[in-house]
Amino acid sequence: MVRAEGLRKRFGETEAVRGIDVQVRRGEVFGFLGPNGAGKSSTMRMIATTSPVSGGTLRVLGLDPATHGSQIRARLGVCPQDDTLDHELSVRENITVYGRYFGMSRRDVRERADELLEFARLTDRADARVQQLSGGMRRRLTIARSLVRVVP
Ligand SMILES: Nc1ncnc2c1ncn2[C@@H]1O[C@H](COP(=O)(O)OP(=O)(O)OP(=O)(O)O)[C@@H](O)[C@H]1O
Ligand SMILES: [Mg+2]
Repeated sequence: MVRAEGLRKRFGETEAVRGIDVQVRRGEVFGFLGPNGAGKSSTMRMIATTSPVSGGTLRVLGLDPATHGSQIRARLGVCPQDDTLDHELSVRENITVYGRYFGMSRRDVRERADELLEFARLTDRADARVQQLSGGMRRRLTIARSLVRVVP
C-alpha cells in the first residue's frame, strides 16, 4: 500500500526526513512514532500527496505521488489530529456531504453512511448536531468520515 525507499524531505536547510525505508502491506496497521520534529507529519504529507518528495522513491497504492496525486487522493482517507467536522451539519450529514465531495452518488453515500454510523456506534446519534457529541464521539465520527471512500 505504501513503499518508501530512501525517502527524504527538505525545507531549505532543514532536513525533515533523512532517508527512511518503509513498507506497509494491505490490512496492516502502521504507526509512526518519534519525538517532536522527527519528521512524521512531513512523511504523512508526502504520502497524502500534499507535499512533494525531495529525494528517494515513494509509491502509494503502487502509484507515484508526483504524477498520480489525484488518483491517490481519490482513494485515501485522512483523519486529522484536530477536529474539522462541520458543526452546522448533523452527524449523518458530516459523512454524506464528505462522500459527495468524492463524487459518490446520493444512494451510495446513504448506504455507506449507514455502515459507517454503525461502525462508529453513532447510529442513534445520526440526527444530532456535532456540538451535542462528546469528544470521543467526535473522534469516532472523524474516523468514520475518513473511511467514506476507502474501498477495501
Ligand atoms: N512547512 C515547513 N517549513 C519548514 N520547516 C518545516 C515545515 N514543516 C516541518 N518543518 C520542519 O521539519 C521538521 C520535522 O517536522 P514534522 O512536522 O514533520 O515533525 P513531527 O515528527 O510531525 O513532529 P510532532 O511530533 O511535533 O508532530 C521540523 O524541524 C520542522 O520544523
Ligand atoms: Mg506532527
